[in-house]
Amino acid sequence: MTVPTAFDLLRESSPVVSVGILTADLLSLGSELALLERSGVKVVHLDVMDGCFCPMMTVGPPFIKALKTPLLHDVHLMIDEPLNKVADYVAAGADIITIHPEACSHAHRVLQQMRGMKNANDPDRGLVRGVGLNPGTPLEALEPLLDELELILILAVNPGWGGQKFIASTRTRVEKANRMIAGSSREILLGVDGGITRDNIAEVAALGLDLIVTGSAVFDGHAAEANAKFMLEAVKKGVRSQESGVRINK
Ligand code: DX5
Ligand code: ZN
Repeated sequence: MTVPTAFDLLRESSPVVSVGILTADLLSLGSELALLERSGVKVVHLDVMDGCFCPMMTVGPPFIKALKTPLLHDVHLMIDEPLNKVADYVAAGADIITIHPEACSHAHRVLQQMRGMKNANDPDRGLVRGVGLNPGTPLEALEPLLDELELILILAVNPGWGGQKFIASTRTRVEKANRMIAGSSREILLGVDGGITRDNIAEVAALGLDLIVTGSAVFDGHAAEANAKFMLEAVKKGVRSQESGVRINK
């Protein structure tokens, strides 16, 4: 039996909600992940911050390796010069691994290097190579990288913390990125990360995305399971409105 690749799993279930755990109860992470699984979430978003590219420090490969969950591991590297570090994150179980060109002297080389790496969870599952872009980085920075990536992740906040406000210009950046992908000869997934809440997730989903990252709106310290279910339903609503051409108010 052929195993679907991580890319195929994302594409077939697009748009997928990837839940960030920055504001989860990290000392009870097993039960936090279990509630995501129960809610129907398929992907967990792991923000790696190094205290250099990002003001805050979070987790590294041993933490990612310790996660026991069938959820796809969406590893967002907000770290300086990942060239010699990505292999450790792949070995730790990344299914999706996103780097930032703003943090790399050799973004193209890092992506090339990842092309030859095997998914540690299952070698047949493949890796999804992502490129994340900060709100202040022109989308043109993606053009020379389009042949070596499977995911574009538009940041709707500056890297740093959960719970920041969605930057409005993200909407036009998503539209532009969608045009860029359509004009390329490749199949590329498009995602947005940061500031996605109960109030805007349906409208954001209607922009035409494959991956929607949301963190503090799910792990709000109160009702994570109900929040996760709400977000999954709201995404379906956003997609329906996109298909029917009915605009959702911002
Ligand atoms: C920002 C991170 C985001 C963020 C998402 O630096 O990359 O993943 O934590 O969290 P919310 O949804 O709270 O903005
Ligand atoms: Zn992130």
